[in-house]
Amino acid sequence: MGAQARVFVTRHLPGNALDRLTAQHDVEVWPERLPPPRAELLARAPELEGLLSLLTDPVDAELIEAAPRLRAISNYAVGVDNVDVEAATARGIPVGNTPDVLTESTADLALALLLGIARRLAEGEAFVRAGEWRTWEPGLMLGRDLHGATVGIVGYGRIGQAVGRRLEGFGCELLTANRPAELDDLLDRSDFVTLHCPLTPATRGLIDQAALRRMKPTAYLVNTARGPIVDTDALVRALHAGELAGAALDVTDPEPLPAGHPLLDAPNLLVVPHVGSATVATRERMANMAVDNLLAGLAGEPMPNQVTPQAP
Ligand code: GLV
Ligand code: GLV
Repeated sequence: MGAQARVFVTRHLPGNALDRLTAQHDVEVWPERLPPPRAELLARAPELEGLLSLLTDPVDAELIEAAPRLRAISNYAVGVDNVDVEAATARGIPVGNTPDVLTESTADLALALLLGIARRLAEGEAFVRAGEWRTWEPGLMLGRDLHGATVGIVGYGRIGQAVGRRLEGFGCELLTANRPAELDDLLDRSDFVTLHCPLTPATRGLIDQAALRRMKPTAYLVNTARGPIVDTDALVRALHAGELAGAALDVTDPEPLPAGHPLLDAPNLLVVPHVGSATVATRERMANMAVDNLLAGLAGEPMPNQVTPQAP
């Protein structure tokens, strides 16, 4: 067994995966519910050799620079937009992520949001609990059909394709876009638009006012990817103006949404707290993968799932 490395894990993770890390290394796990404040991360940086971060932790160039001994970053997420991968690469620090194991769970949640917003589940539930359910009414809570609808999948990678497989079972017509140039036609024709691209400089603000205006007023937007892909102000305005039938969001910008945020007053909005991968089995698989990545990186071996280039 190699030498023990100083490792910081920014939150407790479900399952037993962290036991395998603590068996080999000198591990500190941040014990609180909220992420470690920036000052706590910076305070540990000088000694830090391995970092297991969450998507709530900005691992930026400043932090990487403050950590001269850092030699492995393992992000407990498939998305690595919280990590300055370029700065890590420049230092030769491998960065790992957790693809594949969360694909199907995230696709399941996208379907739940598509159906939930189209069939007005949150409204119906509030209605019943408020004691407003008097009788069966021909015009009560009419929604839209997902089956047979045209669904635009923006970002047709692992998760987008998993959503597409499910929607084929619903008899949907699928439109897909992997490049901004393919987006306009998809927006024009879709009854539902569901986002599955990573957050990058090219996709930040991709769904802006112009994009929302292209969508049919009867169409719905679903986002299980990253909040900043959508321009929040433009979405709020479009929902109020009735330019869009509704939106269902697992991710928002800002995240979390503070109480009283204008988005929460927008009509026809269904919002859940970034739970795309939140199943017992998936979060445990992610923990194992993140630990495997960190152990490999600390041992100087290629990570099983590494987003930075492998050493030649
Ligand atoms: C979750 O959002 C992830 O990127 O894993
Ligand atoms: C609905 O419940 C029906 O029976 O049509």
